[in-house]
Amino acid sequence: MSKVTVIGAGNVGATVAEKVAVKDIVKEVVLLDIKEGLAEGKALDIWQTSAIEGFSTRVIGSTNDYTKTAGSDVIVITSGLPRKPGMSRDDLISTNAKIVNEVTKKSVEQSPNAIVIIVSNPLDVMTYAAFKIAGLPSSKVFGMAGILDTARYRAFLADEMGTSPKDIQALLMGGHGDTMVPLPRYTKVNGIPITHYIKEDRLNQIVERTKQGGGELVKLMGTSAWYAPGAAAAQMVEAIIKDEKRTFPVCAYLDGQYNMKKIYLGVPVILGKNGIEEIIELNLNEQETNDLKASAEAVKIVMDVYDNMNL
Ligand code: NAI
Ligand code: 2OP
Repeated sequence: MSKVTVIGAGNVGATVAEKVAVKDIVKEVVLLDIKEGLAEGKALDIWQTSAIEGFSTRVIGSTNDYTKTAGSDVIVITSGLPRKPGMSRDDLISTNAKIVNEVTKKSVEQSPNAIVIIVSNPLDVMTYAAFKIAGLPSSKVFGMAGILDTARYRAFLADEMGTSPKDIQALLMGGHGDTMVPLPRYTKVNGIPITHYIKEDRLNQIVERTKQGGGELVKLMGTSAWYAPGAAAAQMVEAIIKDEKRTFPVCAYLDGQYNMKKIYLGVPVILGKNGIEEIIELNLNEQETNDLKASAEAVKIVMDVYDNMNL
């Protein structure tokens, strides 16, 4: 009998709503947007796939009426500008910070027990913004990026090897930006180290392509991606709703873990009905530790920009 709200009925938000509905794991998905009629239209279109896809989840649209979102178990926030060619994720901060603050406040007022997943960019800092506004424990406010970035990495590796991405396990840490830290040491093909298949220099090229994975799509389409981002957020929703206790890289609030405090950063966690049930602390080697620190410093600069905006 669960309910999921998705704020923002644009490319990513509508995809999250559709993917969650097709999984048939909740009673209701509410899609909300500020643009008159957009959420209602997309919700109706998704609902009309129910007979074909075979799901019972009701999909309801709302133009900025937050009362329709009341009592949600999970809120996914996707509202905000996407990147255009030549822009970094950080360029979006001034517009998106105001939007994320407003929609977090309004949606948490209606659903004070919800778990909040942020998707809007710049991801790590927007998650921090939502945490500050929501007044919820950090275990219930976190961001989606790591599942997407590792999915891109796994897809590139599968192309390289000519095998199925299903058998590739990978981990990636740090911020959702060019300083993200893919960890080849933790990349395996059903337990077999990736270095058995791919030489180091080629693996490095794939790691670099992964770091620029979002930008590659922005260049091709003139806006940022939505299928993989939507699927990644829906997978997080599923892990929470079904209390699966899955291990995923998630943008989580660090309070001492990895010797870092008061920062949101991508780390492996266990996701279940309580949100982040555990942050997993790995023994990183010197290089990995330095890369993670560099990524944290890049995120901290944008967090400071947000704090100085005094919103
Ligand atoms: P989009 O432009 O297609 O959709 C954004 C929607 O937000 C629009 O429909 C707009 O009307 C709505 N919106 C704006 N202000 C609002 C408000 N105050 N209340 C309710 N709705 C509002 O953009 P898209 O492609 O869906 O991307 C959404 C966000 O997700 C962007 O910030 C993008 O950078 C980010 N993103 C993050 C990813 C990640 O890995 N974390 C991956 C892909 C996108
Ligand atoms: C992505 O990685 C732009 O964050 C967005 O596709």
